[in-house]
Amino acid sequence: MPAETPRVFVTREIPAAGLDLIRQQCDAEIWPEPLPPSREVLLQKIQGCAGVLTLLTEKVDAEFMDAAGPQLKVISNYAVGYNNISVDEATSRGIAVGNTPGVLTEATADMAFALLISAARRIVESERYVQQGKWKTWEPLGHIGCDLEGRTIGIVGMGRIGSSMARKCHGGWNMKVLYHDNYRNEAAEQEFGAKQVDLDTLLAESDFVSVHTDLNPTTEGMFNADAFRKMKPTAVFVNTARGPLHVQADLAAALASGEIFAAGLDVTNPEPIEMDDPLLKLPNCIVAPHIASGTVSSRNGMAEIAAANLLNGLKGEPLRCPVKA
Ligand code: DGY
Repeated sequence: MPAETPRVFVTREIPAAGLDLIRQQCDAEIWPEPLPPSREVLLQKIQGCAGVLTLLTEKVDAEFMDAAGPQLKVISNYAVGYNNISVDEATSRGIAVGNTPGVLTEATADMAFALLISAARRIVESERYVQQGKWKTWEPLGHIGCDLEGRTIGIVGMGRIGSSMARKCHGGWNMKVLYHDNYRNEAAEQEFGAKQVDLDTLLAESDFVSVHTDLNPTTEGMFNADAFRKMKPTAVFVNTARGPLHVQADLAAALASGEIFAAGLDVTNPEPIEMDDPLLKLPNCIVAPHIASGTVSSRNGMAEIAAANLLNGLKGEPLRCPVKA
């Protein structure tokens, strides 16, 4: 490896579609463990690096950038979300930040829909019933779930993933689409008649509420006791975005009391969820381990973009997918 080859740290093994390029062009250290490095080890590993490829488990703040040193040029996040990164801090230091949008849109919306239909039709609960040997006969009154056809989906955050979820719900199940967003999405309005409404209207009128907004100080905790109280008792809540968007204890209380019908979560707060979290004891809550982008093409696409962002940033070139402060 020539002396000028840039030193980088990659905080976990990612698909070869990206990792091979990084290995070929950099003096790369790749954290080999399935669990993230401790903070102490991370700060030590990034010392002197020109680039770091991070996951959503790594907090990239001023302390991180100080530990890396002034030669740090680029932080490439292997995720579309970047709430783990202080982008303002990086930008003020001239450090480029990249993310991986686009390639995981359909996979994430598929997962949101999978959680919606699984929670609405009580699929996980029913499967456990079979496993536990409780299935004795066909039950006219057993395992009754919610209808989907022609119902109303409320999308909170009508960006790429929210639009894809709305398209699936409207195209496949003829659902009416309400959305809440700071921005108007005219394409969604034209394509599937989506109607922009305030959050209270969306909560009151939706049969299914699916969250696709980013996590920031204004959205953190937006799904709290007050929000769940405004939802229909037959409503299903789906979160595939970020755990801290919902208040977990409030969600558990709303599900336990029947204030809402069911929930499907791909994200929790914290991650992983504590094993004594009340949500795990509720039959009407499905919890998956943050797997929405987990398809071959999504994860390979994310690896390719993350590698391109890293390599471009090291050369001082514009990133393929830059994040702006
Ligand atoms: C993301 O990309 O932000 C997801 O949460 C992980 O794929």
